[in-house]
Amino acid sequence: MTIKRIETGIPGMDELLYGGIPMRNIVLLSGGPGTGKSIFSQQYIYYGLKKGEPGIYITLEEHPVAVRENMLNFGWDTRPYEEQGMFAIIDGFTGGIGRAAERERFVVVDPTDVRTLIDVIKEAIHWIQDNTGKTPVRGVIDSVTALYLTKPSIARNIVLQLKKVFSGYGITGFFVSQVSVTERGFGGPGVEHAVDGIIRLDLDEINGELKRSLIIWKMRGTKHDMRRHEFEITDKGIIVYPDKVIRRRKIVVVRS
Ligand SMILES: Nc1ncnc2c1ncn2[C@@H]1O[C@H](COP(=O)(O)OP(=O)(O)OP(=O)(O)O)[C@@H](O)[C@H]1O
Ligand SMILES: [Mg+2]
Repeated sequence: MTIKRIETGIPGMDELLYGGIPMRNIVLLSGGPGTGKSIFSQQYIYYGLKKGEPGIYITLEEHPVAVRENMLNFGWDTRPYEEQGMFAIIDGFTGGIGRAAERERFVVVDPTDVRTLIDVIKEAIHWIQDNTGKTPVRGVIDSVTALYLTKPSIARNIVLQLKKVFSGYGITGFFVSQVSVTERGFGGPGVEHAVDGIIRLDLDEINGELKRSLIIWKMRGTKHDMRRHEFEITDKGIIVYPDKVIRRRKIVVVRS
């Protein structure tokens, strides 16, 4: 039986995933500051919206207005999709404080209380179902790290609860995980085993130049590329180069 896959829509990426992310997988998108995690996950969401697949984006680190503006900078205008009820941004950032926050439809006052966070996520999913007759296909939490920064012992539990909600509705997506520049892991052992996949984004100085690269560390339900690949962030978003393998210190072009 062939498994159903959700294409990321990020040029070059689906090739590394043998077609896309297996449906219902929750993938930890891990990396240091400025490595492109938010842009990667926003590009994934927008690609789905263009294809008619509803999505949800839970923002815990940036103002929802900043998320919309950042996406618009890449030409990804979310407004029409929000107006159609196909896309919901869940505001776990403002705590409902400020004029701009008053205009948000889905606000979680205290996202570290996972029960209320889950309630608002469900509310957004039902709003999309009522408006479109469809269940969201894609979802992102940016970032899950924010939910357990002060209590790492319950990180696994929080991630599993959120994963259950996503997969219960058949949502495929990314949980963004922030790691420090020097950290080799992906967000702690509890979390790393709880998720279905791990993609790590990196920024390294190679011969005096910063290079972006990514590696798929695990992906349940499929084979995947095992090498580290160069990628770029352009004005149109992320482009992954399947033919450019990075060996951390030098780049080797295997196919040109
Ligand atoms: N138009 C653009 N062209 C090229 N690079 C860009 C562009 N816009 C942003 N960037 C790069 O993307 C980086 C930010 O990416 P992003 O916000 O996705 O990072 P992040 O991994 O989410 O970081 P954090 O953990 O701090 O939230 C910037 O530091 C910059 O290097
Ligand atoms: Mg970010």
